[in-house]
Amino acid sequence: MLTPASPAAAAPGDGSPGDTNISYLGRWDKTSSTFYASNWAGAYLRTGFTGTTVRIRQRNSVEFWASIDNRPFVKFTGVSGTVNLTPTPLAAGNHTLVVNYRQRAGSYNGDAVFGGLVLDAGATTLALPVRPKVLEFVGDSITAGTLSSNLALTDYGWLTGERLGTEHTQIAIGGACLVAAADGCWGMEQRYFKIDAASSANWDFSRYQANVVVINLGTNDVGHSVTGAQFQSSYTAFLRNIRARYPVATILALKTFRGRYITETQNAVTAVNNAGDRNVFFVNTDGWLTADGLADAVHPNDLGHQQITNRLAPIIAGYLSPSGRYEAEAATCDGTIDSNHTGFSGSGFCNGTNAIGAAVQFSASVASAGSTTIAVRFANATAAVRPADLIVNGVRVQAVSFEATATWTAWTTKTLTIQVNAGVNTIRFSPTTAGGLPNIDYLDVTPR
Ligand code: GCU
Ligand code: CA
Repeated sequence: MLTPASPAAAAPGDGSPGDTNISYLGRWDKTSSTFYASNWAGAYLRTGFTGTTVRIRQRNSVEFWASIDNRPFVKFTGVSGTVNLTPTPLAAGNHTLVVNYRQRAGSYNGDAVFGGLVLDAGATTLALPVRPKVLEFVGDSITAGTLSSNLALTDYGWLTGERLGTEHTQIAIGGACLVAAADGCWGMEQRYFKIDAASSANWDFSRYQANVVVINLGTNDVGHSVTGAQFQSSYTAFLRNIRARYPVATILALKTFRGRYITETQNAVTAVNNAGDRNVFFVNTDGWLTADGLADAVHPNDLGHQQITNRLAPIIAGYLSPSGRYEAEAATCDGTIDSNHTGFSGSGFCNGTNAIGAAVQFSASVASAGSTTIAVRFANATAAVRPADLIVNGVRVQAVSFEATATWTAWTTKTLTIQVNAGVNTIRFSPTTAGGLPNIDYLDVTPR
């Protein structure tokens, strides 16, 4: 008979909530050892497991999404008890699982708790590599994914994190303001520091450190009579208070898509910059969302969230890589990210499809326009040279030949000089013969 594991009984591999093979990203409440509660919009759990089936223990009716082996997320609605995630058993072997619970908000009040996994007899969970960087997105319904098809999962916060190969979470709830307005509004200036929107318990910021915090607030304050002066002083204090929790994070203050409190947001950023905090930036979002990217006057639809992601991900990539190194696994790779040939940096390399035009594209940020050197690390254990076009910001600038290397593990660096714009640049290697690209490990862009 299966009994819920107590914390003392939790052992790596057993699938109980306390199983250390399971990673919990975002603001989970682990107060109960038998049911861990998922809070805010973008929390998730991730684990590997063996066997052919996986079931998940729920307490009361709940809605959640699960993805097995990186396949599209499947939505489970109104389920409870032991829920079978594999109605069709999997092939025997190692698998991965990601679960996101729907946020309790508005009229939805499901029991967003995780009671552990039930695996095949003799099967175990497996620890997955934890992605080294964490992005945190702070906002309202736009950042919670309202009116997108799968809420938090189809939101720009989630998509951006996935695009960049980082961990990520959305500290967001529909209706949120920055200011805790007197007429009642989730005031993120206070709520952000809590374990959940409606909780009085403080979040323990020692649980994880975000590398980048993206703030998208102000859209709702307008409807709560928040004055510009109030907004600016709250935003300034909010930036300082986040900095107190995350001493080294880059903080990005987005211009709200509706253009609310623009000057006040910029002034708040300038205020903390002038006070010595240089790692806070205002991000102009003009033109990011087109009319067909909106589901209504305010909320992006799925296309809109992709449009935001296309703009935001390269900007964040630049801040994640102040050294100027861009791993191919975080770039766009027309092929697969592999790890079978050792000696690569990061978690893998781009094995491009062997075809003309099967490219790898990096997005690199530099502070000023002009000439810079780039170094691309590659391996090509075929006898033949693999030629490619180097395309910078959409313009073909030169041909590059990737010569043969002795083996697939004999990684070699080729240095080139290009002209870049201030801000984000796309740097694309597009093969011109049917052999495709060599395996590509990373691109170093000398900062300027
Ligand atoms: C081999 C090698 C791959 C490489 C491929 C190629 O399959 O293992 O890493 O990408 O050849 O020729 O492109
Ligand atoms: Ca290949």
